[in-house]
Amino acid sequence: MNQRVLVASNRGPVSYQFGADGSLIPSRGGGGMIAGVTDGLAALGPEASATWICAALSDADRAVARAEETGPGDGGLREGIPVRMLDIAPDIFDRAYNRVANSALWFLLHQLFDTPSQPRFGREFRRDWEAYLAYNEAFADALIEEALMREAAAGEGGLRVLIQDYHLCLAPRMFRDRLSDRLGSQLGEAGPAAGIGHFCHTPWAPPDYYRMLPDEVGRALLDGILGADRAGFHAERWASAFLDCCAAVLGADVSRTGLAGPGPGPVGRVTYRGHVTEVAVHPLGVDAAALRERARAGDVRAHAGALRRAAGDRKLIVRVDRTELSKNIVRGLAAYHELLATRPQWRGRVVHLAFAYPSRSALAEYRAYTDQVRELAREITEEFRTADWDPLILEVKDDYPRSLAACALADVLLVNPIRDGMNLVAQEGPVLSERGCALVLSREAGAAATLAADALLVNPYDVTETADALHRALEMPDAERRRRGAALAATAAADPPARWLGGQLAELGP
Ligand code: F6P
Repeated sequence: MNQRVLVASNRGPVSYQFGADGSLIPSRGGGGMIAGVTDGLAALGPEASATWICAALSDADRAVARAEETGPGDGGLREGIPVRMLDIAPDIFDRAYNRVANSALWFLLHQLFDTPSQPRFGREFRRDWEAYLAYNEAFADALIEEALMREAAAGEGGLRVLIQDYHLCLAPRMFRDRLSDRLGSQLGEAGPAAGIGHFCHTPWAPPDYYRMLPDEVGRALLDGILGADRAGFHAERWASAFLDCCAAVLGADVSRTGLAGPGPGPVGRVTYRGHVTEVAVHPLGVDAAALRERARAGDVRAHAGALRRAAGDRKLIVRVDRTELSKNIVRGLAAYHELLATRPQWRGRVVHLAFAYPSRSALAEYRAYTDQVRELAREITEEFRTADWDPLILEVKDDYPRSLAACALADVLLVNPIRDGMNLVAQEGPVLSERGCALVLSREAGAAATLAADALLVNPYDVTETADALHRALEMPDAERRRRGAALAATAAADPPARWLGGQLAELGP
């Protein structure tokens, strides 16, 4: 049967910038969600018809969105997928994305607030919240248009709607209510079926922390997600915190099934306002064959050669992150500093490749954090550099093939987030590693649930423990490193995007 799928997310698979001559230069979106959805949709095959609704993020995106509204374009195909970009008013978008999603919700869900001074939910936040409502409404309206258009066109096959992430917590409820108004029937009972899924790629916060939100906001976000039939998370911890919030904040009826292993599987069920939402875990891993194939390309090999020349035959500690506050890059550098300071035997014998790519530079906190990263990197270099040894290579310009090359060469991979929904680098690294890499992994990453047995787990706040783990990883015997690396790669390959997305679609009906 024809599978009809609608995806909604803030960031889409491609975003545009204007070139110097006014031409449109596309670039593939970053982050785990894009990788999972793009590859997951591709794996559905020709039987599926999918449309991806996303926000126009830049002026160039807006130009593309307007051109497609008014005239024939390329059918909106990006990465082979029909994409509809929403031209949401810049002020609404800025408030919803930068102020609510990234400054309030991201900090809340990762528990990043510097609580003696932040957050402050005053009048300005209430204005921002109105924008978040309008932004979610724009998505719900677009989903309704697509759903009704497809209903008329296809006539058969259930529609599945997959709404992504903390930007769009309200959209599931809005979409459900609108569809039910338009069709005059209850979803899932009479009338055309539409299974609604929401997936949160971030952690979820426990009720004591979650309650920092203004009451009406905290309730609205939970109620919004509970408009979905399925709510998904990468790890049981986050799913369980969500259930706790539903019980504590909404007083919803929550039952728990618990997960037998690291997932996927159902974790519980919430009954609220007469509707049941199943809560489940779907860990997202990698398509190992495709990743290895990409790493064999000439551009990756050329970078690998250049990195090897720069590092010589020294051991390599690699990290690859967007410069998110949650990624804990500053403590990672502090741990490397402590390693060199307390274990002089590694001086001259190891190089740290730290790739910290730009992220959310519209936010002052992110700019300040990027400055801290650069400053600490400079201090390490100045303190330890010798005539023939550079202890640290910090790269801040995003370069995907170079990242793959670094992972291929890594002896040690450092992934130490303060908190992370899943973390793909922890999985891509072992898959790409040529000699098997040791993984120093934060116990606060969702990926720790699946990778714990073969990684060296650390408390991300404990710099000394992280330095110790780097030391253990560097001196790990070759055979053990290869064995652990192979086991990590096998675990990462067990949940490819096709399984991650396919599992969610299967739960939403035939
Ligand atoms: O990687 C976690 C994540 O929440 C992704 O799901 C999402 O794509 C990304 O972060 C959002 O980041 P950005 O603000 O750069 O789009």
